[in-house]
Amino acid sequence: MTDVLAAAGARPDWAGSFARRARALTAQGGGEITAILALAGATDIITFSGGFPDPETFPAAVLAGIAGRLVAQDAAVALQYSATEGLRSLRDYLAGRLARLQGARPGPGELMVTSGGIDCLELVARTFVDPGDAVVVEAPTYLGAIMAFRGHQADLHGVPMDGGGLRVDVLADMLSGGLRPKVLYTIPDHQNPTGLSLAAERRAAVAELARRYGFLIVEDVAYAELGFDGTAPRSLWSLAPEVTVQAGTFSKIFFPGVRLGWAAGPRQVIAQLTIAKQNSDQCAGALGQRMLEEYGRGGHLDRQLVASRALYARRAALMTRALAAHMPEGTTWTTPRGGFFSWVTVPAGIDTVRLAAAARERKVAYVPGRPFYPGRDGARQLRLAYSRVADDLIDEGIARLGDVIKGAGRAR
Ligand SMILES: Cc1ncc(COP(=O)(O)O)c(C=O)c1O
Repeated sequence: MTDVLAAAGARPDWAGSFARRARALTAQGGGEITAILALAGATDIITFSGGFPDPETFPAAVLAGIAGRLVAQDAAVALQYSATEGLRSLRDYLAGRLARLQGARPGPGELMVTSGGIDCLELVARTFVDPGDAVVVEAPTYLGAIMAFRGHQADLHGVPMDGGGLRVDVLADMLSGGLRPKVLYTIPDHQNPTGLSLAAERRAAVAELARRYGFLIVEDVAYAELGFDGTAPRSLWSLAPEVTVQAGTFSKIFFPGVRLGWAAGPRQVIAQLTIAKQNSDQCAGALGQRMLEEYGRGGHLDRQLVASRALYARRAALMTRALAAHMPEGTTWTTPRGGFFSWVTVPAGIDTVRLAAAARERKVAYVPGRPFYPGRDGARQLRLAYSRVADDLIDEGIARLGDVIKGAGRAR
């Protein structure tokens, strides 16, 4: 059977009709996330590309029981639209969970359910950013956040990082030099892509700057509960709830197929984010919300977290050992204490975008550093995600990557 377009004959080019905003995103590397997701199903290469949780952590058997019960006994809620801010019963559960884990409980109107972490960032960008508004991000940072803010034509400013996370002293200099951002986006715990965390003593300083200069902190806690030792420093939201929106996701600790997260922040801001959500997908799916609530109230989430931390800690250790064994001199990397990532700097003169093709030929994949920067840095960096690589493939994958880097070094 011929497909419908072939039968129609003509194939018009729609690119000229795309909105300027959409074309700008493509020009600025919007295809990067799509390319990472496209590798999700690849089986013939060892891929350190996507920040994917390991399916071993997906609670399939428990969820099958919960889903069956919900459909049989709670269809009027679980199969219905949800309130835009999320089901009340799930918000109650989440508020209690935040109180237990972060020592602060969101009050009425200070918490909403989102469709994953990226949804919260998009809602924040849509709500706060007019074209040309300054937004400060860590350099490097999560590339989905760069795309969300760029999608609203933010003027992005990167603040460098060191072993203690965001260089708060540099941020302070930028602010005293006249920069007036509306938003600071930060991932304080086991950051994507570096694996680094914001030192506890810098957190109060960030909060102080937000108060003094009147910007909103957007704190992305995607990996905060995945510290290998099970501890976490105070969240920025719990330190400074009047100037912070916390963006959380259940993608890494429950499962990403459900698309659920949360936003906690000042009531006035959450109300405006809720209006923005009404204007996009209207609500997160009720079935997933009820499944998460039942799963969490049953104690499964906390139990699974213990197992997930152990799994990722083991993978991180295997990765660190493999890097030490196989990387050529002049290569450095971060040693993660949680999360999914290690950030590698290759010897001078090697470009990790160009290197990716040679790596693919050796059947190993990573994400080059450049797209993680708001500017033009990152040519010598690459991100490795160990989260979904089987234990027995980590050493082999890193050995192949080491060979590819050595080869590029010889060709310099
Ligand atoms: C720091 C960070 N924030 C947010 C997200 C997106 O989360 P979600 O898949 O729930 O939209 C990711 C996913 O990679 C991430 O690394």
